[in-house]
Amino acid sequence: MVKHPKPLVEIVGTGRYLPERVLTNADLEKMVDTSDEWIRERTGIGERRIAREDEGAAAMGAEAALKAMNRAGVEPGEIDILIVSTATPDRLLPSTACDLQAILGAGNAMAFDISAACSGWLYGLTMAEGYLATGRGEIALVVGTEKMSSIVDWEDRATCILFGDAAGAAVLRRATGDRGILSCHHKSDGNLASLLHRPGGGASIPMSAEVLADKGHLLKMSGREVFKYAVRSMADASDTALQQAGLTGEDIDLLIPHQANIRIINATAKYAGIPMEKVYINVDRFGNTSSAAIPVALDEAIEKGLAGPGSVILTAAFGAGFTWSGMTLRL
Ligand code: ACO
Repeated sequence: MVKHPKPLVEIVGTGRYLPERVLTNADLEKMVDTSDEWIRERTGIGERRIAREDEGAAAMGAEAALKAMNRAGVEPGEIDILIVSTATPDRLLPSTACDLQAILGAGNAMAFDISAACSGWLYGLTMAEGYLATGRGEIALVVGTEKMSSIVDWEDRATCILFGDAAGAAVLRRATGDRGILSCHHKSDGNLASLLHRPGGGASIPMSAEVLADKGHLLKMSGREVFKYAVRSMADASDTALQQAGLTGEDIDLLIPHQANIRIINATAKYAGIPMEKVYINVDRFGNTSSAAIPVALDEAIEKGLAGPGSVILTAAFGAGFTWSGMTLRL
């Protein structure tokens, strides 16, 4: 008999937001030296969404959050803890979570951002789980919202083809039955930070004319190295999360992997022993939306009836830091 953490904390509503503007591979062919064939073959991406100039992380997060709150039947004033995961905050101070709190009118919440890149939404779920399980609050809102188009170098073909903008959200509360987060495994390794980072524009290399001219404030990535670690880490995270819950791949109704690259997704599914028909994929339509990817995919899967009450889900992520996470939950 597996001992799950008690009390369980469950997801009671999800929501997503995708900006309207679609940027196709054909559009990218006109911007950098690339091809639809190369992008599809290496990444599985066909198109991605790009936010309006006046649309930031808080605004996108609010759209997703309102849908999640609506589905959960939760009013803004009921939220006790509001966590935003973002690599693209609207500004450096204060947090995007506080801006989002103001938009929503969630005046009773403690609100803060976390920085764990693509793994951030899963990190956020675990933080919310702990807060609710200890009885410090009743309702949590966890949002992943990313305007990746604002930090991508649109002249660098190795990175600009990969990313898109989106937001996803979930409302959580303590469970009364057997649904909820069953296990999680989170890790990070700061020794590998320089393989995926934005070197300039922070406190150590403040924004300057030189930083701007050298594009030091934009995303730099060693793609091949990141790929290698992503495959290894997502496999490790999935494996450990399954083991902790006393589950195997056969027990999983749906795998929702971070949507970075179809080859990483295929490798994760294979390692976890989960057939591809049980893997949710939308990287073809949205590209890599960092910490928004998993909540967006979860919300789509629920809407399509691929996951519902009682479904057992495995999810795994990997991102800058490096950070990586695996989680199992019963919806
Ligand atoms: N179009 C055409 N050619 C390209 C492009 C492009 N968009 N980008 C790179 N190339 C070229 C390179 O210049 C190189 O040419 P060369 O052999 O003449 O030097 C060649 O293609 C191969 O380049 P690689 O970088 O070795 O290609 P690879 O097969 O590794 O694919 C990719 C690159 C898609 C970036 C892959 O490494 C990858 O997906 N890595 C993971 C990155 C990732 O997902 N990061 C997101 C954050 S972490 C996460 O979310 C998981």
